[in-house]
Amino acid sequence: MDHAPGPHSPHSPLVGAPSEVARTPAPPIDWTALPPALKRELRASHVGEAVAVRLYDGVADATGDAAARLFARKHREVELTHLSRLRALVPEGEESRLVGLLSAGGWLMGWLPAKLGPHRFYTVLASVEQWVDTHYARQIDIARRHGAPDGLVRLLQACRNDEAHHAEDGWALAGRPDALARALAWVAVSSSRLGVALARRV
Ligand SMILES: [Fe+2]
Ligand SMILES: [Fe+2]
Repeated sequence: MDHAPGPHSPHSPLVGAPSEVARTPAPPIDWTALPPALKRELRASHVGEAVAVRLYDGVADATGDAAARLFARKHREVELTHLSRLRALVPEGEESRLVGLLSAGGWLMGWLPAKLGPHRFYTVLASVEQWVDTHYARQIDIARRHGAPDGLVRLLQACRNDEAHHAEDGWALAGRPDALARALAWVAVSSSRLGVALARRV
């Protein structure tokens, strides 16, 4: 017999728990002393986490599906924690000027697939989170190469682990993606890649 985890199980893919970032504080860093390459990366991740929060607002606005709404509510809480850590690192005034615009895109990235069916949303989410995992891996590499403080590398690693976990949550619920789900996922990953590239510069 198949025992799918219920929404109240700590290992349910719906609840996005446990979060490693929730146990990992943002280290005190001297922003002005960071190399420009690392500043660009942190700025991009700050935008990425703001986009993630808005994505779940889009899901909640699009669907009445109880499981998808629970998934969105619980994962949004985790993404809010990620956002607060990045917010603590990137000083006011140093963030990308595209936060508002790209966050609106994030809302659409959640709303559209959720409108077209929860399994399509899970496919999009899992694909994007899988890509975010590689984004953080690259960032950890850059941080290490530039001799970033241990606490910063630890936080980025915790973010990476959470995102990898979110990708697993999405795939656990996505089923076998149809052509539309795969197309939406391709668009979402391509736009995320573009958004991060822009946020590094603007
Ligand atoms: Fe995140
Ligand atoms: Fe995530």
